Amino acid sequence: MKTDFILILDFGSQYTQLIARRIREMLVYSEIQPYNCTIEKVLASKKNYNLKGVIFSGGPASVFEKNSPKISTEYLNYFIRNKIPVLGICYGMHLIVHLLGGVISKSKIKEYGHTILNLKRSSKLFINILKHTCTLKVWMSHGDSIKKLPSILKVTSLSQNNIISSFESEQKNIFGLQFHPEVHHTDYGKEILKEFVFNVCETKNLFKPSSFIKEKVDSIRNEVKDNYAILGLSGGVDSTVAAVLVHKAIKDKLICIHIDSGLMRKNESRDIMNFFKKNFKMTVDFVNAENLFINKLKGVIDPEQKRKIIGRTFIDVFENEALRIKKHKGNVKFLVQGTLYPDVIESVSFRGPSVTIKSHHNVGGLPDKMNLKLIEPLRELFKDEVRKIGKLLGIPSDILRRHPFPGPGLAIRIIGDVTRDKLELLREVDYIYINSLKEFNLYDKIWQAFAVLLPVRSVGVMGDHRSYENVVCLRAVTSLDGMTADFYHFKREYLTYISNKIINSIKGVNRVVVDITSKPPATIEWE
Ligand code: XMP
Repeated sequence: MKTDFILILDFGSQYTQLIARRIREMLVYSEIQPYNCTIEKVLASKKNYNLKGVIFSGGPASVFEKNSPKISTEYLNYFIRNKIPVLGICYGMHLIVHLLGGVISKSKIKEYGHTILNLKRSSKLFINILKHTCTLKVWMSHGDSIKKLPSILKVTSLSQNNIISSFESEQKNIFGLQFHPEVHHTDYGKEILKEFVFNVCETKNLFKPSSFIKEKVDSIRNEVKDNYAILGLSGGVDSTVAAVLVHKAIKDKLICIHIDSGLMRKNESRDIMNFFKKNFKMTVDFVNAENLFINKLKGVIDPEQKRKIIGRTFIDVFENEALRIKKHKGNVKFLVQGTLYPDVIESVSFRGPSVTIKSHHNVGGLPDKMNLKLIEPLRELFKDEVRKIGKLLGIPSDILRRHPFPGPGLAIRIIGDVTRDKLELLREVDYIYINSLKEFNLYDKIWQAFAVLLPVRSVGVMGDHRSYENVVCLRAVTSLDGMTADFYHFKREYLTYISNKIINSIKGVNRVVVDITSKPPATIEWE
């Protein structure tokens, strides 16, 4: 049976990803496409899915501007003709009005932030809310508003400033919301989206992790046939789930490559190798490239330079290994990557890539010389969904719960040049810190935690002696997706414990500090 899905056309809102997330939280499959995609192409790539509804996102432009992102009236009519309900949010709402012959203009009163609405008439979207209240506190962010509504659309609410804040055409199944139901500041926001998804679009066949696995396994098996596929296995959640899923499909035709860069955490490479051998009987080639990485990083201080060197070295090592396997086994035609949906959204955005803050890289960057075809089985999923799939695949929760760990590893947590001694010291501090979080039941409350070795020394007194040693900083953040983050508020007892524990256990550290910066303005990693 086909899975139902909701298409989200992106007009550039900073909240578009949030709309997709909210709908996925209802276990309904949703996908974002740029506004200028063609519907034929979308439908052709979604053969196992049934399109049940469309949402036009918000966006920063004004529909009356010449170059603002727009679709044709014919595009909108396609949905109307095919009885596919349409919901426009903010800019998306203005666009519907514009396409149907109404008028949008600059507002005299701009509405930003919390606004109170008066619900005017029963609407399919407000049907249940009206049982509780006729006023609604919502989140607004608009400078334009509806001046004239086409006659087929009926006003369903007005804001406290008398601005049309929602409409509906029951007959044509078109809905518009001036406010953002996807942000949590809007009361009943989730309920409004739910009404659209379930009552209006009549979505029934939900996204099921078990069917997802079956579909992926079948399609990967059909695609790979008798060839080999290779995968750069870092041991993080994404590459692990991708490896186990693809292994289920093609067994020993999958060859994983784990590169020990020497920048990993304590015992990490050893544990990863053991885990895969013991639990999944998978072929994992181990490459010890510690010397290579450390030599290349000698004397390098600049964070971007470090990242570029590490990224490039990973690709070189991976490429060599892949060529060796190709020579040895032949027929290596595929490269598996654990790409997730947020990366895909970023790369399909019609606005183009955002400013580079850091050159991110993942193990197994694309070796283009080799002409391999990509398999990205997780590219439709968010991280929490990947964890669900991983659980169903029998991956222990210890692995699935792991905090993210960046491709460049400890090198970007050693400020200044990277040496073996510094790596050794940081590994020990990190080990004690992370284990203490587990002991105090804090690990799962925190999205990511790690220690940073600072390029300063401080004077201390230990016993009756003067010390002049290293300073380490502890970082812990809560986050949904790593895009923004808040620093974690540790209790004083824990801080006292961990500071003593680190200083008493590790020779070479005489001061512990805590990072209390959120993202933005800081990033999560220090480099
Ligand atoms: P920042 O420091 O940019 O990090 O706030 C956001 C999240 O991304 C992780 N990170 C990386 N992950 N390759 C990765 O796979 C990288 O090069 C990389 N750099 C940062 C970081 O640990 C955090 O979870």
